[in-house]
Amino acid sequence: MSGTDTSKAQPATVTNGAAPTMILVRPQLAENIGMVARAMLNCALGDLRLVAPNEPARHERAIAASSGANIVLENSEDFPDTRAAIADCQWVLATTARRRDQIKPVMTPKRAAAELRARIAAGQKVAVLFGPERTGLDNDDVSLADAVCEVPLNPAYCSLNLAQAVLLVSYEWYQSGCEAPAYELVMNETAPAAKDEVLNLYAHIERELELCGFLRVEDKRPSMVRNLRALFNRAELTEQEVRTLHGMVAELAHGSLRRARKLGIDVERLRAAPAPLYTSKPLFDSSFCDKLTQLFVWRRDVRRFSTEPVSAAAVDELLEQACLAPSVGNCQPWRFVVVDDPARRARVRASFEAANANALAGYSGEKAQLYASLKLSGLDRAPVQIAVFADPDPDEGAGLGRQTMPQAVQYSAVAAVQTLWLAARARGLGLGMVSILEPEEVAAACEVPDGWDLIAYLCIGYPEEEHADPELVRAGWQERLPAEKVVFRR
Ligand SMILES: Cc1cc2nc3c(=O)[nH]c(=O)nc-3n(C[C@H](O)[C@H](O)[C@H](O)COP(=O)(O)O)c2cc1C
Repeated sequence: MSGTDTSKAQPATVTNGAAPTMILVRPQLAENIGMVARAMLNCALGDLRLVAPNEPARHERAIAASSGANIVLENSEDFPDTRAAIADCQWVLATTARRRDQIKPVMTPKRAAAELRARIAAGQKVAVLFGPERTGLDNDDVSLADAVCEVPLNPAYCSLNLAQAVLLVSYEWYQSGCEAPAYELVMNETAPAAKDEVLNLYAHIERELELCGFLRVEDKRPSMVRNLRALFNRAELTEQEVRTLHGMVAELAHGSLRRARKLGIDVERLRAAPAPLYTSKPLFDSSFCDKLTQLFVWRRDVRRFSTEPVSAAAVDELLEQACLAPSVGNCQPWRFVVVDDPARRARVRASFEAANANALAGYSGEKAQLYASLKLSGLDRAPVQIAVFADPDPDEGAGLGRQTMPQAVQYSAVAAVQTLWLAARARGLGLGMVSILEPEEVAAACEVPDGWDLIAYLCIGYPEEEHADPELVRAGWQERLPAEKVVFRR
């Protein structure tokens, strides 16, 4: 297997008596010696002794088989017999595949690893004997050892090759001192979500599940909620996963809102529940950016509405989002008047008719004909109508940013309209902006304080048709301009 971390210092071996010495007794093949060296270095062992090897440790086939662990081969030592090889050791373990008629402690590699560590900690030099490939250790070699190590394997077939045997013992040795956690959740760039983020997610999910009717059986609700929380708790959610789930739930909620209303669920009450707090920094990944582009493309000015009503809670949510818009000096000059009263609506509509007739009079010929054919407002059907004003001189912001450009106040209100527009579209609602109006008439119809400037009158509702291109382009009034026509570089 490949997988060496080349950033780690080479060779990472433990020597100088702080680790067991591996002794191969009369090994036959250079390849096996090489593979033993590889197995040893995998487990940070470097002290290899050979008793009367048939082929030398530095043989080219041994070096090739060691796969880069040549340091172990280069440092290995040869001995004429087992006695000489273990002469400086205080405790010796013999590895065997079959029981011998000798009274000795027999242990597994795992138990042997603990024994080796304990003796090394007590200052002893320890070694492990491995026999020749075909025959294993002979009884004389085993008799020199203090204990025997047997690998518990299939009794009907327990033959291991030399390097495998060395690897099993070396592996247990390494594991017994290894500090790597037995279980670890690898998070990469994200981190486990804090409990408040997780609880916000639960609140979001539970609110939407209630809206879609999933939690409608009152007496089952508490246990269902507890089970769901347990499920998500087991997932050990990361910050990123919490954000993804918020996004998923919000997407699914679009569809469920309509169904909830049909089921007679109290959407307004649930919507009024505290909104989830967004405490962690969001990650706007490429799929989000993709969606955002789609939102811009499909925003469009909508003038043809279906009769499907829009809930008051949905309108409140849009208005709250609009208030997140930028404003000069943070003066937040936008003022929204939700116009429900039919008489006031009629007055606004009359103002549109008058202004539109005046506008038509300003055109002649084909352009006048085309203008007359255009649908320039959704005032006749839009279920929600909002007049947006700007307070031209609000106390907020203490005049910051509007000394030389007082109109920055009105621009700020326009930014709020744009925010509302996008928020509406993202929720499947359409918005049409109407400016063909007499501002004083609309201000009077809305009974707003003197001096407030009308920014726009907004028609909002579910669109009757969806388009990616402007209605005025489709009608042949005005094409869209390519960006290079409006971008100047100096
Ligand atoms: C400040 C402003 C005022 C607008 N007033 C009207 C209007 O009175 N009637 C209308 O039909 N569209 C109005 N529109 C919508 C534009 O006609 C529309 O944005 C434009 O044709 C581009 O289409 P799109 O919004 O679908 O991209 C207005 C848009 C803005 C930004």
